[in-house]
Amino acid sequence: MKHLLSIHDLDREAIERICDRAASFAEVSDREIKKVPALRGRTVLNLFYEASTRTRSSFELAAKRLSADVVNFAASGSSVEKGESLKDTVLTLSAHKPDAIVVRTPWAGAAELVTHWTSASIVNAGDGKHEHPTQALLDVYTLLRRVGSLDGLDIWIVGDVLHSRVARSNILAFAKMGARVTVCGPPTLIPHGIEESLPCRVTYTLDGIREADVIYALRMQNERMHDSYVPSLREYAARYQINGRNLGPRQIVMHPGPVNRGVELSGEVVDSPQAVITMQVEAGVVVRMAVLYEVLAGSRAPEVAPVPTAPTTTPGAA
Ligand code: NCD
Repeated sequence: MKHLLSIHDLDREAIERICDRAASFAEVSDREIKKVPALRGRTVLNLFYEASTRTRSSFELAAKRLSADVVNFAASGSSVEKGESLKDTVLTLSAHKPDAIVVRTPWAGAAELVTHWTSASIVNAGDGKHEHPTQALLDVYTLLRRVGSLDGLDIWIVGDVLHSRVARSNILAFAKMGARVTVCGPPTLIPHGIEESLPCRVTYTLDGIREADVIYALRMQNERMHDSYVPSLREYAARYQINGRNLGPRQIVMHPGPVNRGVELSGEVVDSPQAVITMQVEAGVVVRMAVLYEVLAGSRAPEVAPVPTAPTTTPGAA
C-alpha cells in the first residue's frame, strides 16, 4: 500500500493486518527504550494546516519510535502566511526528499491531490469534512482490545455527522469490521440521504440509545459551520448529550477528542470507566506506527542503492 487516503482503500483483511501490527508495536511502547529501527534512514514530514493535539503528537511519536527522521511543518509561522499555495509548499518541502508526508488540511480531497505533486507516500490525517482514516483505525483497534470483535456490535455515532470526517471514516471502518452503525443527531446535522451512500441507519432522537453497545460522541465542528445548525448549545445538550441519565451500565463511550465537556458528553461520563477516550489516544501512537510501517516498509523493499564495498587491500601489498 503506497498511500492511506481513505478507509475505502482498505478491506477487512487490511484493517486486521494493521491492527495486528499495531498490537505488536504496543510492546515497544512499554519498553524503557521505546524505539525500533524499522524506519531508520526514512524521513517523515508532518504537514499540518489545521489545529491538532492528538493526531500530530502521535504521528510524530510514531515516526520517532520507528527511528525515522521527522520534520514538522505547521502552516502558521510558515510561508503559507505569505500566500504560498499547498502545491508550492509540497513541491518546496519535497526537495527535502521525504519518504512519507502526513497531511492535515481543511480541504476535502487535498490529501489525494498531494499524491500528484510528490513521490512520497501520503497519509491523510484529516482532509476537511471528508475522511480521517487513521482515527477510524485506532478506534477499531481500541474496540478490538476492549471487546475482542466488532462483529454484530451496535455502534451509535451521535452528534455533528454533517461536518465530521471522523464519522465518515468510522462508519466505513466499523461496518467493514461487521458492526451495525446508527447515526444520530438533529436533522440539520445529518447529511441528507447518508444511509444510501454509507452503510448506516439514521435516527434523529436518542430514543433507543440503550440498544447501543458503543456510543461514539462527536464534537460540534464550529470551524466548519457557516450557519447556525442548532438553536443553541444548551438546546443541543438537552436533546443529544450523553450523560448519567441516559447511559446504560454496560455501554462503552468513545470520542475522538477534543471533547466539549457539558455539551456532547457530561463531565461525569468523560471521567467514568465506561469512557475509553484515553485508550483511544494511546492506540493512536501504535496504530500510526503500523500505518507508517505499512506505507513505507510494508510490501516495498527500501529504494536505496547498495553501499559500494571498499576494495580489499592485502596488507603489505604495494
Ligand atoms: C478530530 C478531527 O480533527 O477530525 N480530532 C482528532 O483528530 N482526534 C475530531 C474533532 O476535531 O472533533
